[in-house]
Amino acid sequence: MKNDKNYFHRFVGYQIYPKSFRDSNGDGVGDVLGIIEKLPYLKKLGVDFLWLNPIYKSPQIDGGYDISDYFAIDEMFGNLDELKRLFKEAHKLNFKIIMDLVVNHTSDQHPWFLASKKSKDNPYRNFYLWEDATANQMPNDWISFFGGSTWTFDKTTNQAYFHVFAKEQPDLNWKNPELRAEIYKMIRWWLELGLDGFRLDAISHIQKKSWDFKIKSWRANGPWQPFMNVTGIEDYMKELKDIFNEYGALTVGEASGVLSSDAPNWTDENGYIDMIFELEQNVRRPDGSGDIYKFKQALIRWQKAQLERGWNALYLDNHDQPRSIDIFGDGSEISGKALAVAYMLLRGTPFIYQGQEIGMTNFPFESFTQLRTIENIRHYKDLLKDLPETEALKNVTINARDHARTPMQWDKTENSGFSKNMPWMEVNPNYETINVVENTSIFKLYQWLIKLRHDEFSISDGLIKFYFEKHRTAFVYERNDFLILTNLGKTKANLKFDFKIEGKNYQQILGSKKCELSSKMTLEGWEYQVFKKISQEENGNETN
Ligand code: NOJ
Repeated sequence: MKNDKNYFHRFVGYQIYPKSFRDSNGDGVGDVLGIIEKLPYLKKLGVDFLWLNPIYKSPQIDGGYDISDYFAIDEMFGNLDELKRLFKEAHKLNFKIIMDLVVNHTSDQHPWFLASKKSKDNPYRNFYLWEDATANQMPNDWISFFGGSTWTFDKTTNQAYFHVFAKEQPDLNWKNPELRAEIYKMIRWWLELGLDGFRLDAISHIQKKSWDFKIKSWRANGPWQPFMNVTGIEDYMKELKDIFNEYGALTVGEASGVLSSDAPNWTDENGYIDMIFELEQNVRRPDGSGDIYKFKQALIRWQKAQLERGWNALYLDNHDQPRSIDIFGDGSEISGKALAVAYMLLRGTPFIYQGQEIGMTNFPFESFTQLRTIENIRHYKDLLKDLPETEALKNVTINARDHARTPMQWDKTENSGFSKNMPWMEVNPNYETINVVENTSIFKLYQWLIKLRHDEFSISDGLIKFYFEKHRTAFVYERNDFLILTNLGKTKANLKFDFKIEGKNYQQILGSKKCELSSKMTLEGWEYQVFKKISQEENGNETN
């Protein structure tokens, strides 16, 4: 019954932010040996593959997403031999390992860029995107994701280079076949080394509109439309796909700007990659709280769009967002549990971000000195021009990526068992009560959900049908013979199915409280329930 080509349908991934996972040598920074040390923990959780955030050599302007050497591990994380050991140890335990493939841009310290900058006729000039400019006049008015122009002027050659992220992350010129050949060589090198696949970072931006394109901000994708899934990208993606297929690589794309309606073309059996992360679910109100209704609508939209063709990558937390337990939940463990049940049983491959499985929460920032993400620090300094310190800090930390980057809370010993010495970033002060040793209840729930995905074809590969789509907080769906009910809010949800449900035909297999399924139900705040249809035979036996 199991179709091997689609093995990842029953997989669950675990995202590791290596800098904050486990420090084995006491320098305050998590490392590769620390990950090896914790493999048994991950085995106990039951996940199938690990995604490591970037550990390549990097000046760390953007948490390692600014790579200065694609073939080297940054010293702070260890070395290549240790990484090879990790691959070996992980494979022994049947884990696959994927790493970020960051090829929209490099660091401005990458030797290609340093050469490219030197002169207009340098052989590496066309590895990047340069255009005539003056210090005051950029080639166009496009805006980068991190704010400000997408162009930075360089007086050596009186031209500006293009970057969709920070100015220290110049974009690579994918139109140049020589650049592409170098990238493909590098991809093969990693796959030959034993890496099992990639998370394709910012991949939907590798193609750009022509420079005279005028931003029409009222359209989808706002000011970023000139580099969001622009026509022509297909050619590059096909070349990538051929390499991935050759090695049977496991691939997940971060592809913002790919609309749900287009997603199946990326991820169906003829698509470029196995699955895609959508970013539309991260809907916030001005006060930073999550809009659960819009979150739910985004999930439903993507689930429906990739029902007949294609595959979703599912997630709640990641290294770019504050913790979902505080954003969409109310910080309580029960809200974290309801969210877990709501997304883990959808159609797609779920990812769990480190600490989510024990209910780790946002960090209570009191000073800007606690911030580590450079983008946030720059934003804070900018805001200080108009706001008092407390306001600026509040403004920045509402959405700060740093919330999710604090050290993993292993136990209640000093530094939460993450490091013997002062960590590179402060541990959340709640580590004495929220940690791997104490929080066994939410951890066990994750274990249970993972096992269900492994054991039940209906959950890994079955269809999906939604109920009460317009309800503000109830998230209810059917996966073949399973019915999943969650209330993603504090207040009660009254539900009335428009057909008759025979409670005795369903068995409760999970629930935040004991209950029987019926046509009319009231769910408590953050209640979750999973029912399984009893087969006719079993049912017959029971009533006989
Ligand atoms: C997406 C990554 O998740 C994020 O952390 C990074 O800043 C950008 N891509 C740029 O690489």
